[in-house]
Amino acid sequence: MNINKGRITVRRYFWLALAIAFLALPALELGAQPPPPPQPTQPPGAPGSPPPPGFGDALAGLTGPQQGAWKDGQNLFTAKLNPGNGLGPIFNRDSCVACHSGPAIGGSSEINTTRFGKTTAGVFDPLIALGGSLLQERALQPFGVEVIPSQANTTAKRNTQPLFGLGLIEAIPDATILANVRSKPVNGVLGRAAMVTDPVTGKTFVGRFGWKAQQPNLLAFSADAFVNEMGITNRIYPVENAPNGNETLLAAMEPPNVPTPNDQTDPRSGKAGIDRLTDFMRFTAPPPAQPANASTTFGATFFLQIGCTSCHVPSMKTGANSVAALNSQTVSLYSDLLLHDMGALGDGIAQGNAGPREMRTAPLWGLSASGPYLHDGRAHTVDAAIRAHAGEAAYSVNQYLKLTSSQQSLLLQFLNSL
Ligand code: HEC
Ligand code: HEC
Repeated sequence: MNINKGRITVRRYFWLALAIAFLALPALELGAQPPPPPQPTQPPGAPGSPPPPGFGDALAGLTGPQQGAWKDGQNLFTAKLNPGNGLGPIFNRDSCVACHSGPAIGGSSEINTTRFGKTTAGVFDPLIALGGSLLQERALQPFGVEVIPSQANTTAKRNTQPLFGLGLIEAIPDATILANVRSKPVNGVLGRAAMVTDPVTGKTFVGRFGWKAQQPNLLAFSADAFVNEMGITNRIYPVENAPNGNETLLAAMEPPNVPTPNDQTDPRSGKAGIDRLTDFMRFTAPPPAQPANASTTFGATFFLQIGCTSCHVPSMKTGANSVAALNSQTVSLYSDLLLHDMGALGDGIAQGNAGPREMRTAPLWGLSASGPYLHDGRAHTVDAAIRAHAGEAAYSVNQYLKLTSSQQSLLLQFLNSL
């Protein structure tokens, strides 16, 4: 009898199992390093210091006045507006929080908006004269409710995005995003910065907010959402949307004595509503990441090896910023903020600088709390979201399909920890 033999067998099985685990992996991206585990953007506090911010909390390290501005902006974000303070005449909801609600104020929801337009020989026309491309599904009077015009042959749903940590995303310099643009495809992945005109300054910047990277900063998005989702005209977008472009119907619904633009600057604070909404989003903390464990560490390796990080770049750094909490911070967003040709996953809508098949790489932080997934919310699980990837992500999704189900499960555990 040979005790050693048994031991060797066990050891051999161990190495054999390990070898199989690695052989089963798709080819490594040469020279690539596993991404670091998600780092909390806020440094962990010293013992006895307050716990790190949770979903919907303010950033750690804000000054008193910044915290005050965050809270004041949150008050407007959660306020239900009415026709007297400018709501409508056509709109989608009466508050920002109606859509951006879960798991905390500023989050997402299952509410979708609808875009429409007309595609002719691959060219998308947003049918602006007919009220496109965003549908406003509510109105102050029943006769003003928009419909999808018969001329439209393209429609797409847009899933509500969470707003946690957007101040950090805003503070990433354009040059840092542009540095991720490839001149030659790697495994079919290219990526292109959405160069958009900033409605605030009229200058061209890298678009980074919205499914199409259609807006370059939070003030622009606040102004856009205020007028388009709620009908609150403001200094950046002073023109009221007419239902399906019909000015007569618009005039018939306009309540009297509402100032133009609806969003006025408060002479005491020097701020209008869009500035307050911007303060709220700019100072809201990123979603809290879960601490790494053995499973998530393995999962992170697969995430790198199968090429997810070609688009879902684990982190970028903010530049110099006058707000200390946004200055030179690591942003673990898991996105390159670039547009990619997603093939069949594209939504058919051209918007900003993005073509019909191009979508901005969705940041993956906070994923465990942001479902349903993808631009139209079609995916109820992270696994389904991955399987729907196409176009430039074809290589990566094929590698995902080649993983064993236990490897896939480790990857999903990693994604749910971000
Ligand atoms: C009817 C639902 C709805 C309402 C109301 C709404 N939003 Fe949104 N929000 C969305 C949807 C849908 C998107 C995705 C937009 C897109 O790209 O088409 C979004 C995206 C955003 C983004 C971009 C997030 C990112 O990660 O890039 C910001 C910022 C934003 N909303 C702010 C606001 C503010 C501020 C208000 C209130 C003035 C508001 N939203 C009201 C549904 C809504
Ligand atoms: C070519 C770039 C690219 C690659 C490679 C890629 N993705 Fe994505 N990913 C995107 C884009 C763009 C979106 C948004 C697509 C949409 O909704 O239309 C997205 C969305 C997602 C979402 C849904 C996020 C949400 O909030 O709805 C998940 C999850 C995801 N990707 C995971 C992965 C994983 C895991 C891999 C590797 C197997 C991967 N992605 C590879 C570009 C990419």
